[in-house]
Amino acid sequence: MVSVFQFCIFSGHQVNLDIDPLGLAGLHEFATTHDFIGLSKHTAPGYLKHLKHGDLPRWIEALGSLPKLIPETVDLEYQVAIGHGGQTSESQQQALSHVLETLVPWRKGPFDLFGVELDSEWRCNMKWDRLLQSGISFADKTVLDVGCGNGYFGLRAIGKGARLALGLEPYLLYAMQFQVLKSYLPELPIFVLPVKLEDFQGPRDYFDTILTMGVLYHVRSPLDHLIHLKRYLRPGGQLVVETLIVDGPEGYCLTPSQRYARMPNVWFVPTLATLTKWLIRCGYQAIEVKDVTATDAEEQRATRWMPFASLQDGLNPDDPGQTIEGLPAPRRAIVTASINDK
Ligand SMILES: C[S@@+](CC[C@H](N)C(=O)[O-])C[C@H]1O[C@@H](n2cnc3c(N)ncnc32)[C@H](O)[C@@H]1O
Repeated sequence: MVSVFQFCIFSGHQVNLDIDPLGLAGLHEFATTHDFIGLSKHTAPGYLKHLKHGDLPRWIEALGSLPKLIPETVDLEYQVAIGHGGQTSESQQQALSHVLETLVPWRKGPFDLFGVELDSEWRCNMKWDRLLQSGISFADKTVLDVGCGNGYFGLRAIGKGARLALGLEPYLLYAMQFQVLKSYLPELPIFVLPVKLEDFQGPRDYFDTILTMGVLYHVRSPLDHLIHLKRYLRPGGQLVVETLIVDGPEGYCLTPSQRYARMPNVWFVPTLATLTKWLIRCGYQAIEVKDVTATDAEEQRATRWMPFASLQDGLNPDDPGQTIEGLPAPRRAIVTASINDK
C-alpha cells in the first residue's frame, strides 16, 4: 500500500493526504500485482499535492462522512445499483443523500445507492444500450475510458465482465463522485485517475478496448487525440469513438464560432465521412459506423441532481432541429476502429 502520511494546504484548509481520497493506493496495488506497469507517476506518494482545487477539502470531508455500509446486493450488469434501501436506516439514507448533494452536479448516471435514487442529467444507460447493440463486448477485456466522468461506463463494463476498467477524468469533482461509488466497491478492478489523456503515463499497447466518448469535440486537436490513444491500444484492440456529428461531405466539419448548444468548449464536429478519414489518417483500420442517434430530452435533462441548464436550454424553442446558435441540433455517432500493427 502507498502510505502518504503528510499534510498539505489547499486554499487555507489543512488536508490529511494520508486518507488517499482518490484510491490511488488500490490502483498501485492492482498495478503491481498484475502485469500493469508504468503508472508510478500517478500513484506515487505525494501525487495528490499536484492537484490544486479549492473545493477539494470540502469534498474530502464529505467522503469522510459517508455512512459505513457494506452492500448486500450489487447490480452493475442491468443498472448501477449498489446495496438496497432495506439495509439502511432513515438517518443513514439522509447522511448518504447529504454527501451526494455536496457533489452536485451529477451529470452521469443514474445510480441507485442503498435505495437513494440518483437521477443524473444524462440517462447513460441509453448510451450503454447503444454500445451493447453495436456489438461491443467487454467480457474479459482491459478497458481504458478516456474522459470517463464519474465512471458510470466503467462500472457497466465491469458488470459485463471486464478484467479492468481504468478511467481518466481531469475534472476533479467527477473523480470524487467516482470515489463515493468505489468506496462501497473497494475490491472491484475499477479506478479513475484525475488526469487528461495528454498527461497520462500508462502501459503502452496494453488495453483491449479504449473508449473515447463525448471527448473528441472537446479537444482542440482531435487528430492528436486519436493518435495519442493508439499508444495505449494493444494490436488487435478496439477503439470506440462516440461523438457529436453533423451532416455533410468528407472533409467538412463544423467549427462553432463560439458556443454549440450553449457549450463553450466545442471545437470540431465532424461528418461521419470526415471522422472516418481522420481515423484512417491516424492509422486505424476496420472502421465501422455502428450507430447514429439524435439526443433528446429523454436522455439529457435537468433533474434534482443536476439542477442547471441542460439540452432543452441549448435548443431553439421554435425549431428543436437547431441549437440556439442556429447550428444543427446534437446527433451522436458510435464508430469503432482497430489497429493491427503500429
Ligand atoms: C461530455 S463528457 C463525456 C463523459 C462520458 N465519457 C460520456 O460519454 O458520457 C466529456 C468528459 O471528458 C473529459 N475530458 C475533456 N478533455 C479531456 C482530455 N483531454 N482527456 C481526458 N478527459 C477529458 C471532461 O472532463 C468530461 O468529463
